[in-house]
Amino acid sequence: MNQDEQKRSVARAALDYILPRLANDSVIGVGTGSTANHFIDLLATIRGQFDAAVASSEATAARLRDHGVRLMELTAAPELAVYVDGADEVTAERMMIKGGGGALTREKIVASASREFVCIADASKLVDRLGRFPLPVEVIPMARSIVARALVRLGGTPELRPGITTDNGNLILDVHGMDLADPVTMEARINNIPGVVTCGIFAARPADVVLLGNADGTVRRL
Ligand code: 5RP
Repeated sequence: MNQDEQKRSVARAALDYILPRLANDSVIGVGTGSTANHFIDLLATIRGQFDAAVASSEATAARLRDHGVRLMELTAAPELAVYVDGADEVTAERMMIKGGGGALTREKIVASASREFVCIADASKLVDRLGRFPLPVEVIPMARSIVARALVRLGGTPELRPGITTDNGNLILDVHGMDLADPVTMEARINNIPGVVTCGIFAARPADVVLLGNADGTVRRL
């Protein structure tokens, strides 16, 4: 299977995983990216079996809407039954780097509102240690330079992602070379820099389940 087929197969596995956990009044959190898009396309086939979805980005909201899935604002939603999303890197401890698609802040918010976080990824995303993928950090525009300097002091090399404004009206710095040997501590330190909205380390709240799509068509669960 090529990478896209692995993404599709793991999205199918996620649908099978969540189905027995859904009730007619369940609200589902939905992530952003190409793997999440496969999940959205499959979720549409069971849209009569849950109440609504909360989207982690405007792009995801548009895709859900196109499929006729009822959307709900997080402010109006009860606790979400499950959150399903992809990742840029994931470890055996189910910690992740996310934000390659720039939706990290809403992804972290929607994940935090969910009983269970199911991460879906092709096998290439599994790493021994986080940090090869440049770490996305969402930044308030006026703080861009002071945040970049603080990230350099933490050992990273930040680069402004060109031409990107997030759904929240902010900027993304992609940080190269950061030592993420202790992801929980680094997540807190970066999030504590004034002007940072959030960073793409998902370690304080890792995924509850990771489903990995292999090239031979099997799906491995971590
Ligand atoms: C978007 C994300 C995505 O989950 C991550 O970038 C993985 O994307 P893809 O499924 O396209 O490989 O965090 O902000």
